[in-house]
Amino acid sequence: QYALIEYLTDSVLFGAMSTFDVYGMKNVNNQISSSHMCVVGRGKDFSSHNAAIAGWTVSPSEYGDSKTHFFTRWTVDGYKSTGCYDLKCDGFVPVQNAPTTPGDTLDHKNGKLKITIKIFKKKDDGDWWLYFGYDNQSLRAVGFWPKSIFNNMADHANLVEWGGYTFSNSGSASPAMGSGHWPGIHSAVVRDVRFVDDTGRGYKIDPWPGGLFASISHKKCYGAVLSVDEMFYYGGPGGCTM
Ligand SMILES: *[C@@H]1O[C@H](CO)[C@@H](O)[C@H](O)[C@H]1NC(C)=O
Repeated sequence: QYALIEYLTDSVLFGAMSTFDVYGMKNVNNQISSSHMCVVGRGKDFSSHNAAIAGWTVSPSEYGDSKTHFFTRWTVDGYKSTGCYDLKCDGFVPVQNAPTTPGDTLDHKNGKLKITIKIFKKKDDGDWWLYFGYDNQSLRAVGFWPKSIFNNMADHANLVEWGGYTFSNSGSASPAMGSGHWPGIHSAVVRDVRFVDDTGRGYKIDPWPGGLFASISHKKCYGAVLSVDEMFYYGGPGGCTM
């Protein structure tokens, strides 16, 4: 189940960046609640979806606790058999002196934490780099996804998604997303939503919100609402059963 803001284009994207509020979440048992930015090279169908993802997640089955973790993920076949979370398979290459490591816990301090994530294809080496910071002035490299692992994203991306994703087993109610509140003043926010060029420079989506649109799987449980100033609200209480 998801509530996303998406941008799909026939032309060329080299990356994106944005700043997320980070929350803790209770009562996530055999479920997942995450918030992420996803840079995608879309193929003919979903099974050829290439994606590089980073964000925060509460996923007890993945991490063995109910803490909030910084995560990365990638795929080249729509999550069927390639790729993995964090450093659990070859693919994402972490660098030294990184500000965080994929899988690390994030201390959310009751929603006071913000993280800025930037993913872009660097002109020099052609690899997809991930930068991270606790504020948007001090972004540092976490690592990169080598261009050689991708096919539909080897040259550029054509889709970016920002927002929330939840998972629950069939028959069990889905967990909260974001802050657990519906889009609005109490909800989780993604701010400074920008595209990034191949030198790593962020640029505004002008005019805002341009071609961005909301894509929501279960409107009874979650929402995503574009706001002014490069910002959108998302989330909800959950409770939908697959
Ligand atoms: C960084 O954050 C400030 C304050 O929210 C904002 O005004 C500025 O546009 C942001 N810059 C980038 C590159 O996101």
